[in-house]
Amino acid sequence: MIPYVLEWGSLLLRWLHVIAAMAWIGSSFFFMHLDASLRAAPDLPAARGGVGWQVHGGGFYEMRKYLVAPDFMPEELTWHKWQAYTTWISGFFLLVWIYYAQSSLYLVNPEVMALTGPQASAIGIGALAVGWLIYDRLCKSPLGNNETLLGLIGLAVIVAASYGFTLVFSGRGTLIHVGALMATWMAGNVFMVIIPNQRKVVASLMAGEAPDPALGKQAKQRSTHNNYLTLPAVLLMLSNHYPVLYANPAVIPPIVFLITISGALIRHFYNVRHFDHAKSPWWVWATVAVALWLTFWIAMASSPTGRAQLGLAATPAAVSTAAAHTSPPANVVEIVTSRCAMCHAADPVWDGIQISPKGVLLDTPAHIARQAEAINLQAVVSRAMPPNNITEMTADERLALAAWLRSATN
Ligand code: HEC
Repeated sequence: MIPYVLEWGSLLLRWLHVIAAMAWIGSSFFFMHLDASLRAAPDLPAARGGVGWQVHGGGFYEMRKYLVAPDFMPEELTWHKWQAYTTWISGFFLLVWIYYAQSSLYLVNPEVMALTGPQASAIGIGALAVGWLIYDRLCKSPLGNNETLLGLIGLAVIVAASYGFTLVFSGRGTLIHVGALMATWMAGNVFMVIIPNQRKVVASLMAGEAPDPALGKQAKQRSTHNNYLTLPAVLLMLSNHYPVLYANPAVIPPIVFLITISGALIRHFYNVRHFDHAKSPWWVWATVAVALWLTFWIAMASSPTGRAQLGLAATPAAVSTAAAHTSPPANVVEIVTSRCAMCHAADPVWDGIQISPKGVLLDTPAHIARQAEAINLQAVVSRAMPPNNITEMTADERLALAAWLRSATN
């Protein structure tokens, strides 16, 4: 019963989380684009705002932005905040649901640190809270006046955090926590700065006073940070499906560094382009291509078989679909059935697993042969499976799998 509830809860939470995030990111992109497209109008000089026209869904929209505030308070005002709050709250529950409630599968790797579930959860939640405090202080310090410097320091904090997480968590748990840290900065910006500042502006207007322009500036700074963090955060949220990214904790910090600058630069391209097409910073794409290529290379070179394929190590270990047609030898069947099949069977016997995870069956020679590529990826190239090596697969056994996969290609 409980595994079913866990699966369904995870499905429903993820559904909510993805939808809320789409709404939040959608509005973030929309407003950045809108801001960039505004032009000064006779009754609204650039110092006070701007005007832009849009066409959508059968109608024309005249968008007017009043910097700081309009002269009068409109009767109805739409606030953009629940997309952000819902995203963070559902994401937090999803983190608790998957990583804290099922920590031995996803978060704790005893070879890194033998934490109990509650210890690991406390470290995770504590790190998110401390991470927010550090970021918020940095923005409010004099550094906050220098956008570029602040961005570089923020990047350094992210990379340092990723290193810190590798010392306590599994690789997978590390990447999800780096993503959660970024997401916490983003939601915290909305909850602690953008919305409160906006409320103060509205209150001043109601009281007939001139609002403080610094409030609007602070809010814009945080909303710009959110925009630049969006793409890296989304990639980190998806990283748990890609063991190639987290297979080797030693290279997680450089991978996080490269992913973060790539995502931020892609946003930069569009932010500048939407302002003025002629000024599109095309160099961004060359830089991103190099950064992503480096990420690929670092990830590959950090795995023993990947190194061999790059010609950096002696043992060649190529795999091809030919493996799927080869019946695995007895020792391979023995290894896989004793280390994997307790979970990956039609009727799993592992406590807490009731349905074969991801539908992957590894209980008969035919099933094992069919999953040759997946076994290579999950248990040889990376050590994603068994989860946190929970069934204690040995290095020799992984080598035996590699030898089988290699021979299967000849
Ligand atoms: C303790 C239970 C358990 C054991 C033992 C186990 N797995 Fe898994 N496996 C899982 C779970 C849980 C998932 C789903 C992970 C997720 O949700 O991302 C999974 C997913 C997979 C996937 C699918 C990955 C994907 O994202 O498509 C493959 C392939 C796989 N395991 C192979 C193996 C191999 C090979 C072994 C043995 C070396 C093994 N597993 C041992 C629990 C187990």
